[in-house]
Amino acid sequence: MQIPEHVEAKIRALAEDGKTLNCYIYDTKPMRNKIKNLQAMMPEGVEIFYAMKANPHAAFLQAAYEAGVEGIEIASLGEAKKAVAAGFTPNRLIYTGPGKSKEELTWCVEHGIRTVHIESLTEAHRLHHICEAYDKKQDILLRINADFDIHDAQTTFSGGSKKFGVDEEKLDEVLPQILNLEYLNFRGLHVYAASGVLNVDDLLKNCELVFQLTQKIEANYSHVHCDIIDFGGGFGVDYLETGYDFNPQAWAKGLEKLIHEYQLEGRHFELELGRYLAADSGFFCTEILDIKESRGKKQVICAGGINHFRRPAALGINHPMSIVWMQRDRLHPYQEQVRSEQVYFGGPLCTGADKLANDVYIEAADIGDIAVFGLAGAYGLSMSNQAFLSHEVPEEIVL
Ligand SMILES: Cc1ncc(COP(=O)(O)O)c(C=O)c1O
Repeated sequence: MQIPEHVEAKIRALAEDGKTLNCYIYDTKPMRNKIKNLQAMMPEGVEIFYAMKANPHAAFLQAAYEAGVEGIEIASLGEAKKAVAAGFTPNRLIYTGPGKSKEELTWCVEHGIRTVHIESLTEAHRLHHICEAYDKKQDILLRINADFDIHDAQTTFSGGSKKFGVDEEKLDEVLPQILNLEYLNFRGLHVYAASGVLNVDDLLKNCELVFQLTQKIEANYSHVHCDIIDFGGGFGVDYLETGYDFNPQAWAKGLEKLIHEYQLEGRHFELELGRYLAADSGFFCTEILDIKESRGKKQVICAGGINHFRRPAALGINHPMSIVWMQRDRLHPYQEQVRSEQVYFGGPLCTGADKLANDVYIEAADIGDIAVFGLAGAYGLSMSNQAFLSHEVPEEIVL
């Protein structure tokens, strides 16, 4: 991985400061450019929301705001409050995720958020009771667990038994009941297939399926119009550095064709993107504290582990990485070093699960050097086990 020059300069300046280095470095320029490029290439009707679960740091919300996203996809009241603090009015928030509490839904109704994405019949009733009490109608989308699955995605959200949405087969049982809830204003469907998808055709297959579902529903329920169709997130990034990245232009072209084929011009098509927008705007930088040879393999121990960067262990993949050489004085003559070999990187936690990378080929690394993990702007610190072992939380530095 090539570390951008200005990021490396910052790392060196911090490392030379004397304090053990363990931080995130953010530069949201790539995110701002991606939003602008997507807006320029998407067909008429596509609205881009930032899925702030990818990175809830104020700098990312500010980047999304200034680059002009339609709004924010939230999944908790905490996220709602952060989005509002960043300048997004509640009517620019869309709320997804299973298990929304009474307090969370009450906030939504009180503040008039754009849409609540209903994940079950019970949730529809819970929201309806609150709306009734406030005598306020709420726009909703119905999330569907489609009978469709992208096998090579990093995480799937539909197909099989899932906690997300209402099973497609149960639609005829559930939808009429939801349509009968007078305080809920049905606006359309939400079908999110998978996260971390690099294959454009797989994601387009999901779009086509949603269009077919839309047509089926509108044919069966003559008074229903799916004005909004939400595809969730899912655009992937090239963690494995294969050189094969997601091609948003091809996706946009494919979607345009499908909209035309299914005669769905004039509808709203929502995208809730997290990883694709945020990943390359962040680096996790952690100092190498120890290097040990253990039965034929070097164990490289860093200042931060899964408490600060959990994603590689959680997903079982290596992130792109690089070493910033600091050329520190040796502490003793027998000090181990890494030279042109495949090694293991872990953190300081007392669990074998504390893995940052495994079998990664490193040209040279010494104690005191800085291991830098790329594509760490999405699902980095906020997805980590920060409280485990009570280490100091890494600073998040914005360039
Ligand atoms: C409902 C919903 N929308 C959007 C996203 C963002 O997905 P991604 O980061 O793959 O774009 C997620 C991620 O889990 C999600 O659960």
